[in-house]
Amino acid sequence: MTQKRDIKLTANGLSHAVEVSDRMTLADALRERCGLTSINLGCEHGVCGACTILLDGKPIRSCLMFAVQAEDKEIRTVEGLAGAADALHPMQAAFHEHHGLQCGYCTSGFLMLAVGYLEENPDAGEAELREILSSNLCRCTGYKNIVNAVVDAAGGMRTPC
Ligand code: FES
Ligand code: FES
Repeated sequence: MTQKRDIKLTANGLSHAVEVSDRMTLADALRERCGLTSINLGCEHGVCGACTILLDGKPIRSCLMFAVQAEDKEIRTVEGLAGAADALHPMQAAFHEHHGLQCGYCTSGFLMLAVGYLEENPDAGEAELREILSSNLCRCTGYKNIVNAVVDAAGGMRTPC
C-alpha cells in the first residue's frame, strides 16, 4: 500500500502544505501540488535536465528526488526568477535577446542550471559554461544561441542592479 504523508515544501519563498505519496517525485509534487508548471519532464530518469530546479541553491534533477526528501530545503524554480513588477531576470532577458530557444521545452531547465551555476561561480568563462550546459539536452536549437545567452547573462549577473 502506498503511504501518504503531509509535508511542507518551500518554493520561491512560499510554503506549500501538500499531501504526497512516499514515491512521488519532487518534480511531480511541485507541478501537481504546488502549481509550478515551469518544470518540464522529458526523460524522467536524470538524463535530459528539463526538470532542473535549484535546491538550496544547487541545480538538481527534480525527477530523481522524492518530494519527502525536499522538506526543510529551499526550492527555486523559474516562477521565482523574475523580480519586482515581473522584471525579467538577466538570464531570462538574455534568452529572449539571443533567441535561446525554439519549442521552449528545455528552457526552464537551462535557465535554472545557468542561474544556479553562475550564482556560485560568477567568474565562469565561456569554456566552463559550455561544459556545464552540456549536462542538459535541447532537441531544437543546436545550443549556439543558448551558449550566447548564458555567456551574455553572466556579465549581466556580475553587474549589480
Ligand atoms: Fe528529469 Fe529528464 S526529466 S532529467
Ligand atoms: Fe526545444 Fe530546447 S528549445 S528542446
